[in-house]
Amino acid sequence: MSEAAIEDARTAPVLVWEQLKGLKGDDLKAWRVGEVDNLRSPQERNIDLPIPFGWFAMCYSDELAVGEVKTLRYFERELVVWRGEDGQPRILDAYCPHLGAHLGYGGKVTGNMIECPFHSWRMEGDGSVQEIPYSKSIPPKMKKPACERSYPAAEVNGFVWCWYHPDNVEPLYELQTFEEVGHPDWTDYEKHEWIVYGPMQTIAENGADAAHFLYIHGVAGNPNYDITFDGHRRTAEVHAKMGTPRGMVDGTIAYGVDGSGQPWTRFTGICETLLISGVTPISRDVTHIRFAFTQLKSDREGENGGVAKAIIKDICKQLDQDKVVWDRQKYVDAPPLCAGDGPINDFRDFFRQFYPGAEYDKYREQAKKRTISR
Ligand code: FES
Ligand SMILES: [Fe+2]
Repeated sequence: MSEAAIEDARTAPVLVWEQLKGLKGDDLKAWRVGEVDNLRSPQERNIDLPIPFGWFAMCYSDELAVGEVKTLRYFERELVVWRGEDGQPRILDAYCPHLGAHLGYGGKVTGNMIECPFHSWRMEGDGSVQEIPYSKSIPPKMKKPACERSYPAAEVNGFVWCWYHPDNVEPLYELQTFEEVGHPDWTDYEKHEWIVYGPMQTIAENGADAAHFLYIHGVAGNPNYDITFDGHRRTAEVHAKMGTPRGMVDGTIAYGVDGSGQPWTRFTGICETLLISGVTPISRDVTHIRFAFTQLKSDREGENGGVAKAIIKDICKQLDQDKVVWDRQKYVDAPPLCAGDGPINDFRDFFRQFYPGAEYDKYREQAKKRTISR
């Protein structure tokens, strides 16, 4: 591709850029999590992918104080998360096993248990009933996990995570921790979020979709990459020329995804930046994305401070650009790919291992280590 064509791609009046141009500050934040005009049904958009299993972000650690109860809606289920006096987060389906009251509306924390607002039954994090204040005995069935579902909870990297598997299979891999998070040399998180009207798989596919970087993000030239698939982990190094207002810049982006919902990205070169993402399915066609950035303080607070902020702004802008497409995209099950599209089918085979059910067993069996380069 000629240099002139590269410049054209950067400066062309892409309609998506035009659409986002006027959005700033609070308006932009509201747009990122707001409803979408003319949203079409999942049926019309052929979105019928299962909700994948994995570890998923529920909230930031600093959003859940000791004794606090939060109501959440993920995995097409009502959930309640609370932090016991021992500091540990716990997650249950929100409906009380007694007469079905919603524990998120008036439920309170007692010790490490959650107490239902309706008749004060007290449940542990495994969903077992431990105390009924007005009764001498607890029905034996209730002493075992009695709530419809309890979820393994964990807390790393400044997030509360939930292990979700529709068949209640125990966690199949561990969460990765990053020592930059909370390290005195690194900044506190700068947080951003989006609601995307698209399935998890489509969002995760973005990293394998090599051709879109040029056209929708204005990255100059098709990037070179090494993408490695290894069991539940996908890692990549992407080397791209970024067409910036200050000319071409060589950028290296390393990213990894553990399972279906825990991506991280490292941007090196100009300013050391680590992005921890929490990508959580609200339903099979709606996804919550959190971006949490930490940067080396010496970069962020030194003379590079403006550039450090600009890097984060640019990454978020790229997600805005993708969201415009994702919110209205139809799912194409067997896409007509051509040279230059990137390893989209390899990615899909990898991602299918996170879908429950025997029909996906072959993708789990073939999830062995291999690298695809360009
Ligand atoms: S409905 Fe929860 S204690 Fe009765
Ligand atoms: Fe993208």
